[in-house]
Amino acid sequence: MVDDKARGAEWDRTYLGTPPWDIGRPQPAFLAAADQLTGTVVEFGCGTGEQTLLAAQRGADAIGLDISSRAIASARAKVAAGRQTARFEVADILDAASLPDDLEGVADVVIDSGVFHMFDVRDRRRYAASAERVLTPDGRCLLLCARPDPARSWGPPGVSPAEVVASFGAGWRLLGVTDTAFETTSPRGSIPASMIVLGPAQRPPADEDPAKPARARAVRLNLSP
Ligand SMILES: C[S@@+](CC[C@H](N)C(=O)[O-])C[C@H]1O[C@@H](n2cnc3c(N)ncnc32)[C@H](O)[C@@H]1O
Repeated sequence: MVDDKARGAEWDRTYLGTPPWDIGRPQPAFLAAADQLTGTVVEFGCGTGEQTLLAAQRGADAIGLDISSRAIASARAKVAAGRQTARFEVADILDAASLPDDLEGVADVVIDSGVFHMFDVRDRRRYAASAERVLTPDGRCLLLCARPDPARSWGPPGVSPAEVVASFGAGWRLLGVTDTAFETTSPRGSIPASMIVLGPAQRPPADEDPAKPARARAVRLNLSP
């Protein structure tokens, strides 16, 4: 089994140069969705921080999490250089319990640019559990995911909106899907993608503890053996 240190080291190696996903500016799909980056925004797998910094620029309290300490160092250097004020932390988004305690239940929005679509079914459910841990009961997820296309011969495997909702579980519903693209610095160009927006399936009933949203209980059930 690969532990998070080994995974972090693997991802660190990709940041020795400039990886093709690191375009040095926000993805156009997030610029188009920037009015949704409000309140407290937590980015999962933030890389060198462009989406987190966009959220900060739009007035959000923005926090970026990534398993690569090299990527986080680059993101923090952008803050130090005066780009925006944002917080960046090394963290494993597949291990909900290890996420910083002060992020529990605070995020209005979780954003993801090209991360969820990399994971297998088991890790997608772990990812959903991490989103559950940091989000408020009304919080949403904005996920920029490659579209599945058997004819595409490069780039990450795609994921459909239905697969995303299935990974998150019964407490969630699809709020929107926009066809877009994930830009890269590769000569092969951009990857057809979808901006997938998920939100709570329902508000918790009035007689239930609002600190424990129905959505969180549903995902915990999904994770049971
Ligand atoms: C394809 S890159 C996308 C980076 C960034 N979102 C962007 O658009 O530039 C995937 C990112 O996910 C991070 N990552 C992979 N597994 C992770 C994990 N378990 N926890 C946190 N970050 C992870 C990698 O270090 C890498 O920065």
